Amino acid sequence: QKLDIELAAIEKGGYDHFMLKEIFEQPHTIFDCLRGRLDAAEGSLTLGGIREYAEQLKNAQRIIIIACGTSWHAGLVAEYMIEELCRIPVEVEYASEFRYRNPVINPGDIIIAISQSGETADTLVAIESAKAQGAVIFGVCNVVGSSIARASHAGAYTHAGPEIGVASTKAFTAQLAVLALIALKIAEEKGSITQKRFLHLLTELEDIPEKVALALQLNDQVRSMAEKYKDARDFLYLGRGYNFPVALEGALKLKEISYIHAEGYPAAEMKHGPIALVDETLPVVIVATRDSYYEKIVSNIQEIKARSGKVIAVITEGDETIPGMADDVIVVPEADELAAPLVSVIPLQLLAYHIGVLKGYDVDKPRNLAKSVTVE
Ligand code: G6P
Repeated sequence: QKLDIELAAIEKGGYDHFMLKEIFEQPHTIFDCLRGRLDAAEGSLTLGGIREYAEQLKNAQRIIIIACGTSWHAGLVAEYMIEELCRIPVEVEYASEFRYRNPVINPGDIIIAISQSGETADTLVAIESAKAQGAVIFGVCNVVGSSIARASHAGAYTHAGPEIGVASTKAFTAQLAVLALIALKIAEEKGSITQKRFLHLLTELEDIPEKVALALQLNDQVRSMAEKYKDARDFLYLGRGYNFPVALEGALKLKEISYIHAEGYPAAEMKHGPIALVDETLPVVIVATRDSYYEKIVSNIQEIKARSGKVIAVITEGDETIPGMADDVIVVPEADELAAPLVSVIPLQLLAYHIGVLKGYDVDKPRNLAKSVTVE
């Protein structure tokens, strides 16, 4: 047994938990995911899996993204990316709902299935039935040779390496990176993006590993924040645009790891319900990095402060407005809004991790959860 314990310690590479190790691996995993595919200086983007289906993708009338859990959140970010860059309508579906409702699938529809494990039963069955109806399936999987990867016509691996922590972290950011590459590749083929924006986004993506490394330096600060807020009964997470799915993911991480009830919401939708919960006991995590929604989210912060909520804001370096309004700020490096989720999610992963640890829970194996759900 002593040997088992020592082996486990070695596997964790000096970290207390796999989850923390995997959070800290992200600068490398994102780099690995981009390596060989992206060269900003050359202005080139290669995605082997896509080449064969380039025509279909370019001419797709719509794209349906199918996934569960954290992978579904990555799908929501991809919806914003693909609609913005490729001007193709995108629907993001929970695999479990999609598979049972006799969905409409038209010839030429493209399905992107996102799955870390590549074994999630609902996602697998959903793509098998869509395939039988003539859809082209792209798999975005982490596990090489997994069932979903094999059932797909084509795809791109996320190359994040084995993820042991049940709550997904590094697989999520790798999914975001691959999905950004897919969106950029389709946009390039289709001619729906200017050369200037294309090159700008390649550079932005190439810079992400370094920005994630900087965001990880916030670890100690986030740990102190976790001390301060760990006894809250509920949390609200808000974001807009590209950061709306980040809010959902932040809330999911907290639920999974710390067993604190948390809800993610689009910030403007707050006034249609969750605002009723706001009082001095409610921490509200707001992802408010500088983007085209910035002014709007500043108003949302004011609405929460007017009701005495506690605001923890994730903001961009150089922001001089929000620090004067929020109770706590977490300052992350500036990034184009399309790439920002890869950076803004980092402190939220850390916050969930530290609250879970402080509460004494098994963060690598939270109760009732499985790493891969192979039954329905
Ligand atoms: C489980 C895991 C989650 C994961 C989800 C989808 O619920 O605990 O972390 O996001 O399944 O898994 P997949 O392997 O398909 O991405």
